[in-house]
Amino acid sequence: MKKAKIHFKPSGNWMNDPNGFLYYQGKYHLFYQHFPYAPVWGTMHWGHAVSEDLVNWEHQDVALFPTKYEDQNGCFSGSAVEHDGRMYLYYTGVHYNAVDRDNIHLCPGQQFEACQMMISSDDGFHFDNFKDKTVIIPCMGEGENGDRTHTRDPKVWRGENAWYMLIGSKDSDGNGQLLIYKSENLTDWEFANYVPGRNGFGQMWECPDYFETEGGKVLVISPMQLMRDGKKDADQTICMLVDFEEDTCEMRLPGSYEFIDQGLDLYAAQSTEDAQGRRVMLAWLRMPEAVDGAWSGMCCIPRVVEVKDGHVYFRVHPDIERQFTRRIASPAEADEAGYRVSLDLEDGESIGIGGYWIFRRGCHICTDRTGVFAGHDDYRMQFMTPELKDGCHLDIYVDRNLVEVYVNRGEYVVSNAVYGLGDEIKVDAKAVPQIDTLA
Ligand code: FRU
Repeated sequence: MKKAKIHFKPSGNWMNDPNGFLYYQGKYHLFYQHFPYAPVWGTMHWGHAVSEDLVNWEHQDVALFPTKYEDQNGCFSGSAVEHDGRMYLYYTGVHYNAVDRDNIHLCPGQQFEACQMMISSDDGFHFDNFKDKTVIIPCMGEGENGDRTHTRDPKVWRGENAWYMLIGSKDSDGNGQLLIYKSENLTDWEFANYVPGRNGFGQMWECPDYFETEGGKVLVISPMQLMRDGKKDADQTICMLVDFEEDTCEMRLPGSYEFIDQGLDLYAAQSTEDAQGRRVMLAWLRMPEAVDGAWSGMCCIPRVVEVKDGHVYFRVHPDIERQFTRRIASPAEADEAGYRVSLDLEDGESIGIGGYWIFRRGCHICTDRTGVFAGHDDYRMQFMTPELKDGCHLDIYVDRNLVEVYVNRGEYVVSNAVYGLGDEIKVDAKAVPQIDTLA
């Protein structure tokens, strides 16, 4: 089977959201939204890969594919949990109202129905798509808790005394909202509460994720049309510190949010607990163009999520950080899986990585991908972090199609898709950058 290293990429064709990310029986399992026939979005399958170290990924057979009336047109996003040695996958089954006779992989008028489904496996590798799928939450009818079409992406976790599920949805005013369900046995689910929508927070909250860390409880959502960005409406992934009461299933949201990444290209993040109990998160890098006409979509580096003083940090997972041990003089000597450039920037200084520019302006890091993103004028080219607390250390992880700028070890991250990155590094700074690649 083929492999991917550092940055997860599909074995070919299309990927979007990471799904069912889980450390299970000694391996990280990563499923993902996959169209196996072309590098474009289409009838969704769950692609599958495993890794022992979050560095090397081995592609597996497709795990989920349409077999039932309810998921005839796609197995949409969802999550995984382990219980008594079994792996349980939760996902959204999609059935289109009509058929597009020219391309059965597209949905006429975006009219479809969605329900929540489950399948389990005793080894995490074998899924009987014909026998083992069940509908756990049927498609919503008129007047029911959620929207018939836009109710999806179940995220399940174990609480103190029960299992909980968050589902993305939208309310009758067209604002994003979440539904919370509760279960004693992972199979029978009861509606427990809403996380009510609000104006200005997007129209449909996709891919919810929720977890507790030492510094606070974090909700991650991907609201559609959160903002107008450049010439387009932009769906963005955001996070915020919330209150959640298990007994009442009441979740209280603050009035403001942070982006998970300042590059605004990452979407549909999903997290799990790593082998040491840290919270580790992945997200899909949206790419406007397939690479070599062969594949589209990849994941950012798995990031450890921590909350300090009310701010959410995203730092490179240590298992990945420690792979970059070979000092090199130029990117031309780098391993295929990329390299890291580290330096401190003073106010007014800059560094150019193969045509991608990073500047410090006062207490902000700004980036500009104009030179390595030709032909995509509809997209935003320049990015800026909020104000940094103290100093400015950069660890810039560079792959052929993705630059990730970690500022102050995760205080902020700016990640951008790029095309045609060069091999030269230009520095206008006092510090001498260190370049490291894989051993
Ligand atoms: C987010 C999303 C999810 C959905 C999936 C379909 O990118 O739209 O809400 O389940 O992708 O591929």
